[in-house]
Amino acid sequence: MIEEERSKNHLLLAKELEKVLHDSNGHSSKHLVSNPVPWHQFPEPPKDKETGLPLLDVKRFDLTWEHIILSETIFDILNEVVLENRKQDILAAYGLKPKNKLLFCGLPGCGKTQTAKVLSSVLGLPLVYVNLTAVFSSFLGETATNLQKIFTYVERDEWVVLFDEFDAIARDRNTPNEHGEVKRLVNSLLQLIDTTTSQSLFIAATNHESLLDSAVWRRFDEVILFEPPTLELRIALLKRYLAAIRYPGIDLAPFAAQIENATGADVERICADAIKMVILRGDNILTVTDLEAAIGRYLQRERIISNSTDFSTDSGHGERV
Ligand SMILES: Nc1ncnc2c1ncn2[C@@H]1O[C@H](COP(=O)(O)OP(=O)(O)O)[C@@H](O)[C@H]1O
Ligand SMILES: [Mg+2]
Repeated sequence: MIEEERSKNHLLLAKELEKVLHDSNGHSSKHLVSNPVPWHQFPEPPKDKETGLPLLDVKRFDLTWEHIILSETIFDILNEVVLENRKQDILAAYGLKPKNKLLFCGLPGCGKTQTAKVLSSVLGLPLVYVNLTAVFSSFLGETATNLQKIFTYVERDEWVVLFDEFDAIARDRNTPNEHGEVKRLVNSLLQLIDTTTSQSLFIAATNHESLLDSAVWRRFDEVILFEPPTLELRIALLKRYLAAIRYPGIDLAPFAAQIENATGADVERICADAIKMVILRGDNILTVTDLEAAIGRYLQRERIISNSTDFSTDSGHGERV
């Protein structure tokens, strides 16, 4: 049954069944069913001592590879990572460890966070989302304590752990020494990951990879650069995000060609805009005009944003470090 569900891509269900099978320990499954452990309950997350803010957030996602559109090269790497992590017991028998430290870099809106969610779903593991702003306590001594608290929590089980946008710390604090600060944080993270006993998959994500030098890069098992989608991928993204509506006879390629710099998040927004127009006029078929209007609005917005970043380069806002 487990294999069958897995082949149908019902990965969470397969994982739950596997758990029931392994945990049952001779008890009848009836007993387990009448006493279900709520699957959404996780141990209480640790908090920052000063602010009382939770240092992490745990969630389950039920996504598949269909929910992320990426180049074949990236897919190949991710598939390898998934396979190694699924079969880590076999690897361990040969004294080998799976790849468990990934660095995701690249522009915002290109799918870094989404990929972490998909990976956690595909592996059937909950996603531990680490709030690094809370981790970086105003009391510097607390930062190390907070990282320690996170790893104590992580060691209780197996997860996908995402340290998202860790460069945000340097930007928020506006310190002149921001490069050093991010590097120190990543180094402590890497050290904790290297010594942890948890079989989790760790992902660090950043929009500002230039804050890290190659020595830090090399310590990750894989470094994946999320770039704005190519024409072919933009067509796939349009298809994906228009899947909820019918658009008979429309060729998406010329539209994809018009939105050259659009990210995955941009394409998602364009499609949502177009679909809303159709629905709100009480229709259920998307026309060329709808798509043209939504793309027109996107291009207009891009012009406004690029003008405003031109004006603000003096102050350093809006530019990529
Ligand atoms: N490559 C992609 N394939 C499918 N959807 C995408 C892609 N990139 C972005 N999106 C959509 O845009 C949203 C924001 O992307 P996100 O993963 O948060 O980007 P990042 O973390 O790189 O800033 C996602 O939730 C997803 O819906
Ligand atoms: Mg993100």
